[in-house]
Amino acid sequence: MTVDFSGVVPELALAVDRSADLPLGQQVQEALRTAIRAGRLRSGERLPSTRQLADQLGVSRGLVVSAYEQLFAEGYVVSAVGSGTRVADGLGVAADSTASGAVRPPVPAPVTGIDFGYGVPDLRAFPTRDWLWALGDAMRALPTADLGDGTTEGDDHLRAVLAGYHRRVRAGCAEPAGTIVVGGFRQGLTFVLGALAARGIERIGLEDPGPRDHDHIARRAGLRVSAVPIDPEGVLVDDLRASGARAVLLTPAHQCPTGAVLSPARRHELVEWAHQVDGVIVEDDYDAEFRYDRQPVGSLQGLAPDRVVALGSVSKTLAPALRVGWVFTPPRFRDGILTEKFLSCRGVPQLDQAALARLIETGRFDRHLRRVRDSYRQRRDTLVTAVDEHLAGASITGLDAGHHALLQLPPGVDEERVVAQAAAAGIAVRGLGDYRVTADDEAPRDPLPAALLIGFGNLTTRQIREGIGVLGEVVAARPS
Ligand SMILES: Cc1ncc(COP(=O)(O)O)c(C=O)c1O
Repeated sequence: MTVDFSGVVPELALAVDRSADLPLGQQVQEALRTAIRAGRLRSGERLPSTRQLADQLGVSRGLVVSAYEQLFAEGYVVSAVGSGTRVADGLGVAADSTASGAVRPPVPAPVTGIDFGYGVPDLRAFPTRDWLWALGDAMRALPTADLGDGTTEGDDHLRAVLAGYHRRVRAGCAEPAGTIVVGGFRQGLTFVLGALAARGIERIGLEDPGPRDHDHIARRAGLRVSAVPIDPEGVLVDDLRASGARAVLLTPAHQCPTGAVLSPARRHELVEWAHQVDGVIVEDDYDAEFRYDRQPVGSLQGLAPDRVVALGSVSKTLAPALRVGWVFTPPRFRDGILTEKFLSCRGVPQLDQAALARLIETGRFDRHLRRVRDSYRQRRDTLVTAVDEHLAGASITGLDAGHHALLQLPPGVDEERVVAQAAAAGIAVRGLGDYRVTADDEAPRDPLPAALLIGFGNLTTRQIREGIGVLGEVVAARPS
């Protein structure tokens, strides 16, 4: 995307050296060529006016005019009346050289039709007016002193509000003192795992299948990874015990990606395991607010606050773009997590923290949740009906909570073929195979069933019907 800087004169960091042998005019030309070649100035971007650059460098305007003319002659820049001098089209930046073996960010699916992508809430339902109000209110009340760096823990008021929210809505027993504000779940996870490694935890069990990248995040924190199988009741605690791990990362309210809810018996087994091995359960409480058939299942943290570090964020309830999350930790991990955070960043934007506190404490957040919960329920029901109509032999599970479900393909249908042909037909969807975690031990693993993850939070009921209709045709089609 071209950056236009319309209406302002762009600044450009260039320097000339008066003691050098090279004449000043040539220095200016060369500095501009280098900036363009290196991608500091990109195609379509505007150069400063000749007067501004001359003032900045302390040289005559005529000298800069000649340098621009020279670059024009060489094809580096173009100029048009009214829009100044710009970098010419097609002048590339050196390609990004991602080291082999490095984790690449996921490539966005090349489709623009219907996107069943996992994990996106209804972005059109974002409570813009309430958020603007909360930001304005927070800004008006913000003491000037709070414009400096905040504390590493995060805004005191938000921490108290979050702990209260967790007790009230998630049946937890968080306390403000053990609450740390972070820039979303993933950032919090990085800090928590770093702190666990620093306290001597060597291995972590991850649910398999499980969310992409958590295996890599764990390794970067210095942990080894065991893949622990799950069944419809959640993680298999005997396998976790056999792995030798002393930490486990779980999505108890709605297993990601299968949607299984951790059963009461498993919850107790897990807590018992944690006590036996002096272990810790890291709870990813990511979409628990959306439970349709009954009251949300309480946070595991409420059952064993001394053994559970719970994390949450507003990425599923409001919007991922806000990047606000939290960690509720037992006292013994608190300093370690704070150290990780202190060494990585100066914190979460203060104004957003204050605004979120206002949104929650005035009831606007709850009101938003009630509204979107109803519309997610409708979408979920539409999904179930559409699957019934268009996908004979398929079954859909994980519907109790959240805004995604798992579509098990009929026997004999190849997952990769369906994903590829769906993409060609304008439907973006991911297969369960994308959620196989990589492990550091050799434990044999059963193959995963052929299944698709169906995110329905950010789609209209019409899109869900249409998309499932197309998927039905793709599934029924013969392999090409
Ligand atoms: C399993 C799981 N947990 C948590 C999150 C939220 O992460 P963050 O708060 O960093 O957006 C996601 C996001 O997609 C997720 O898939």
